[in-house]
Amino acid sequence: MAFTIAIDGPAAAGKGTISKAVAQHFGFAHLDTGLLYRAVGRRVLDGVPALDAARALVAADLDAGDLRTPAVAQAASKVAVIPEVRAELVDFQRAFARRQGGAVLDGRDIGTVICPEAEAKLFVTASAEVRAQRRFAELAEAGLATDYDRVLVEVKERDARDTGRADAPLRPAPDAVQIDTSELDIGAAVALAIQAVNNVRGVF
Ligand code: DC
Repeated sequence: MAFTIAIDGPAAAGKGTISKAVAQHFGFAHLDTGLLYRAVGRRVLDGVPALDAARALVAADLDAGDLRTPAVAQAASKVAVIPEVRAELVDFQRAFARRQGGAVLDGRDIGTVICPEAEAKLFVTASAEVRAQRRFAELAEAGLATDYDRVLVEVKERDARDTGRADAPLRPAPDAVQIDTSELDIGAAVALAIQAVNNVRGVF
């Protein structure tokens, strides 16, 4: 059985945590599609042209250790503006989405462009300030020195680029269930997400 759960939203809204928990709950495979753009952005920082990096991408690149840095996040958001780079990454994502046993994909354009036919769609948001606070705490935890104001600026920059681009901009699919995690803890947000999926699972 193929069953696709599409989870979109801006940086640090809680998509990653929710997606992992939802995938685990249903026993589905999970793909963090941001890692594809991060892996390409990572190669661009080394001087490789973006399209060459996208064409050469293999699954193992998604396990590289340093894809979580702020520099790679910004590079990812820049390469993600290039339509040819996005096009290069489509087949991998669609094949993953239709695998037997069910799949959760999280990103920016899963419910709108990659899997408009997904059986369940969620759009996870939170205020920019809350997201910056969470990202700041994560970076501090990882020992990466930074300050809150800088993280907030970067979050807003990335939002503007991700929502403002012409090709596959970040926006909720019309049939997505929206979850605002600004005032929710992880457990409550995950419970809402599972509930939303269960509501449509009855239909299929
Ligand atoms: O989810 P993330 O922060 O790891 O994503 C990094 C960047 O990749 C993000 O700023 C925009 C881009 N991206 C995208 O354009 N489409 C996706 N489906 C996932 C990520």
